[in-house]
Amino acid sequence: MAKLVVEHSGPLSGCVAVGGSKNAALPVLCACLLTEETCTIRQVPPFTDVLVLLKILRSLGAEVLYDAKKQMAVITAKKLTSTREDAALAEKLRASFFVLAPLLARKHRAQVPLPGGCPIGTRPVDLHLKGLQQMGAKVKLEHGDVLARCRRFQGSRIYLDVPSVGATEQLLMAAVTAEGRTEIENAATEPEIVDLAAFLRKMGAQIQGAGTTHLVVTGVRQLGGARHTVISDRVEAGTFLAAVAAVGGDVTVQNAPSEHLGAILAKLKEAGVQLTVESGRIHIVSDGNLSSFDIKTMPYPGFPTDLQAIFMVLATVAKGTSVVTETLFENRFLQASQLLRMGADIKTEGRMAVVEGVKSLTGTSVCAPDLRAGAALVIAGLLAQGQTEIEDVYHIDRGYCHLEEKLQSIGACLHREEETEEQ
Ligand code: UD1
Repeated sequence: MAKLVVEHSGPLSGCVAVGGSKNAALPVLCACLLTEETCTIRQVPPFTDVLVLLKILRSLGAEVLYDAKKQMAVITAKKLTSTREDAALAEKLRASFFVLAPLLARKHRAQVPLPGGCPIGTRPVDLHLKGLQQMGAKVKLEHGDVLARCRRFQGSRIYLDVPSVGATEQLLMAAVTAEGRTEIENAATEPEIVDLAAFLRKMGAQIQGAGTTHLVVTGVRQLGGARHTVISDRVEAGTFLAAVAAVGGDVTVQNAPSEHLGAILAKLKEAGVQLTVESGRIHIVSDGNLSSFDIKTMPYPGFPTDLQAIFMVLATVAKGTSVVTETLFENRFLQASQLLRMGADIKTEGRMAVVEGVKSLTGTSVCAPDLRAGAALVIAGLLAQGQTEIEDVYHIDRGYCHLEEKLQSIGACLHREEETEEQ
């Protein structure tokens, strides 16, 4: 078990580079199962979620070469030898569920456990299953596993009750080799979906409307191998920007997907930081004196729920009262109780949190309750007087790679301590 020890830091200075996006890489890696040919995927950092997913792909029979240093995965799913996903691996991440459509497309049957992931809500998969059923899959749930069978997927017109990112990705992967035309209405428009569609198109898929709420896919008989570089991680970029905003500094965030950060940049400006945005890089200057702001999480291009916890940390020291509303997940204020231990003034009521800015936070020992809330506590630790110890760092490692080294490179004081179990 590892913990992070974070000291009061700042001002930060220098350059820090954003890596590949976790949420874009995971569906792209699963989409490699759709072809017998080799796919080469670049800018895939060794997040633990990626490493677990690669294990899953191997266990299904895909040949997987992964170079963590080059951040490149080479996947050949010539033969899929299993249609049953390992439950112990599947429960570690939400994206394990994305193998369902590719397995059905290639092998016509699949046994896939209900997925794991962050404990931020009930996170049903009903929209994935309803859509696949509309496309001809026979689905039943037994002992926590989805058992599904399907001849060739049939094109269909599918309306999503909510614009679910995961369901849109799953159904896109089903539609690309379906017989006929599929339309997905009220589709999610997140950049990660546009990236998946770009990869699928390189494989030979015919997709129109990616990035809009109406996707039109004309199924093709088969897909071929392709090379793809995953987009940069907008959540990681937002994390670095928030860290500088909080503790002050003068930093250039390189490889930043500025075109995907509209809501985040707007809120940072409202909080009073100076930003210069160029294609691929963002220069941020902050004196650490922030004004209060309100955020309401929304599907893209609204404010991303994955940065809600991190921006709540900014609100804890911003002058005045900020209101944070979480509309996507019912249990996504897990950071609040930890921030209270650090001296924050937060009142939560259902999906709304009222945050009164305090002069400063103070360090203590806290637990990372989930991935993004864990990253939020790192920023709280940089802000807090004294030392903050963050336990359960494994949550953070699911979606950040070299987080402490990157923050150290711009002057933050933090380090990891590996705890050995007592004899
Ligand atoms: C993805 C991201 C996650 C992000 C979220 C919202 C990955 C691996 N994860 O999660 O980091 O926070 O998008 O941007 O990409 N819903 C249903 N039925 C379904 C599916 C979803 O009711 O079948 C609901 C969910 O409970 C939630 C809302 O839809 O309230 C949005 O969830 P969704 O967009 O599906 O999120 P994920 O794909 O799970």
